[in-house]
Amino acid sequence: MSDVKHAHSSCMALLIPLEFSSEVKQILIEENLYENKFRPRRISEKLALPIRENYENINAEISKIMPHLNSEISIEELTLEINKPNLTPAELMFSNISDWLEDFAAKKDKTVLLNYIPQKWELLGDLALLPSNAFTQKEWNEVLSSCQDAEINQLWKIICDSLGVNRLGRQQEISNDIMRTSQVELLLGKQGWVELLDHGVHFGFDATKVMYSSGNVTERHRIGDIDMKDEIVIDAFAGIGYYSLPMLVRSNVKHLHACEINPNSIEALHWAAKKNNVSHKLTIHEGDNKITLANLRNISDRCHLGILPSSESVWKPAMECLKNEGGWLHIHMNVAEEKIPAWAEETISKLKIISQDIGRDWKIEAKHIEKVKWYAPHIRHVVLDVHCHL
Ligand SMILES: C[S@@+](CC[C@H](N)C(=O)[O-])C[C@H]1O[C@@H](n2cnc3c(N)ncnc32)[C@H](O)[C@@H]1O
Repeated sequence: MSDVKHAHSSCMALLIPLEFSSEVKQILIEENLYENKFRPRRISEKLALPIRENYENINAEISKIMPHLNSEISIEELTLEINKPNLTPAELMFSNISDWLEDFAAKKDKTVLLNYIPQKWELLGDLALLPSNAFTQKEWNEVLSSCQDAEINQLWKIICDSLGVNRLGRQQEISNDIMRTSQVELLLGKQGWVELLDHGVHFGFDATKVMYSSGNVTERHRIGDIDMKDEIVIDAFAGIGYYSLPMLVRSNVKHLHACEINPNSIEALHWAAKKNNVSHKLTIHEGDNKITLANLRNISDRCHLGILPSSESVWKPAMECLKNEGGWLHIHMNVAEEKIPAWAEETISKLKIISQDIGRDWKIEAKHIEKVKWYAPHIRHVVLDVHCHL
């Protein structure tokens, strides 16, 4: 984090005992009396809140709501820091959290706490997701456990304001269960439903219930760029429609069969199909695809196999779903970087054996390898586009 240099200037300020500062600040904002060109300053056990020039009625406004405060507040002209107008969200968050710490953790070592402020977050509509370790360090735990709920909420609120969102969550590891359940913890906000628009495609899902991988964005765009006019397509691991929806909306498929086992993802996929006006071209097959794919034999031109670390368990049923004349497979896999060419060759050999097993005498060719993202050090998420044809 780079140091933010601040200029100073004189300004009228209302001095308030620290414990009442957040409520009074809220009153000032609501009454349009708060001067947000300046940053508040702590002076001993009081906080100096910058106020606008029309402050004559300030005492009256505050005593209406907090009459007991009258004798404890004063107005003075002070020199305060000028807020920088062009702070990045990260700088704004740093500066606002620094102010919050003045109020609620004045006796702690601020430098250590500020060093832990997250530098990265994921934006999902109006929900910002902080990394799983955000504000969980021993030092932050000590501060937060000594705060009241309202004070902690105020911290989450200023982070939201800094990042320009209304809700805040903290990432947890995606669970290793078959449904890839999301374990996002909501810090501020009542529910986790988010809506996104990406490349003209609407997505919606509950971030606390299902996973969404922003890192797959390039692959979503690539799949949506492939012309699938008149094709019948199967998405064997549809999720909320990460790939199904781009294929329905942008690739212009004739009909798409989406296999999915997680009811929360299915609900999201139904919602998005309606929102994108493609419900008439979509059939959702709920349940384990080892069963549902068996009902889709010999019907498709393309089968999308988007699961990690490996989709090998469904290569055979997926090939059985292709029409007699063949079609395309998009095989997702995690592969060590140096092993990618060998893995592609080995995959084609295995697919040739399956093809013979199921009585299809296809030519099988690797047409493209897409490196989607780094999954772990040295491990790539790749997609192999395979053409099976007579
Ligand atoms: C990795 S997630 C979402 C996949 C999405 N294509 C992506 O890459 O972002 C995989 C999805 O497959 C579903 N799934 C896993 N195993 C399944 C199975 N045997 N049958 C049907 N769906 C399954 C999970 O519920 C989850 O929604």
